[in-house]
Amino acid sequence: MNENNIVWHEGKVTYEDRCKNLGQEGLVVWFTGLSGSGKSTIAVEVEKELLKQGKAVYRLDGDNVRHGLNSDLGFAKKDRDENIRRIAEVAALFKDAGLITLASFISPFQEMRDFARERAGVDSFIEVYVKADVETCDERDPKGLYEKAKQGEIDDFTGVSSPYEEPENPDIVIDTVELTVEDSVEKILEVIVDE
Ligand code: PPS
Repeated sequence: MNENNIVWHEGKVTYEDRCKNLGQEGLVVWFTGLSGSGKSTIAVEVEKELLKQGKAVYRLDGDNVRHGLNSDLGFAKKDRDENIRRIAEVAALFKDAGLITLASFISPFQEMRDFARERAGVDSFIEVYVKADVETCDERDPKGLYEKAKQGEIDDFTGVSSPYEEPENPDIVIDTVELTVEDSVEKILEVIVDE
């Protein structure tokens, strides 16, 4: 019991029971990188391929989650940390449900990515650094956000007026300046299949 009189309630179905039914282990694949680096594009394709292979898979994406669960949060550091804290908890629950969970968020701070790894369980978490330098992302600018940020129309824009901490020890690095989407997906699937 904690200080708020809340008691953990054990069920009769375990994580192992769920995995046995699904024929797979739960996993969190966490994509981090700048806006426009290609996180979502790659995660969408990985999800499609895993589904084709008969896997139970679910994708969480920054833009989408911010429409609902995290619609109350902005982009100051405190809000980004809370954004990632909630997502990390959701991803850990989905993993516990036995799903392969693909999470694509800028997640600019190492501390919060480490938190996500810890919540999922260190052996059930793959950090994928979707790497593209800010100049390349600025050139791609698929949503026109870099232009707006440079005009001062968006505050705290990652890579322009807010920091991005490169992953210290990522499990996979996908250099999207060099690799095609197909090659990127293949590289990630090779690791997931081995899990
Ligand atoms: S974070 O840093 O992890 O909390 O961000 P995330 O939840 O992934 O949301 C990123 C998407 O929000 C849009 N957007 C911004 N990004 C960065 N900085 C600022 N200020 C900002 N404002 C809006 C943008 O579309 C991001 O999507 P992606 O897919 O990364 O381009």
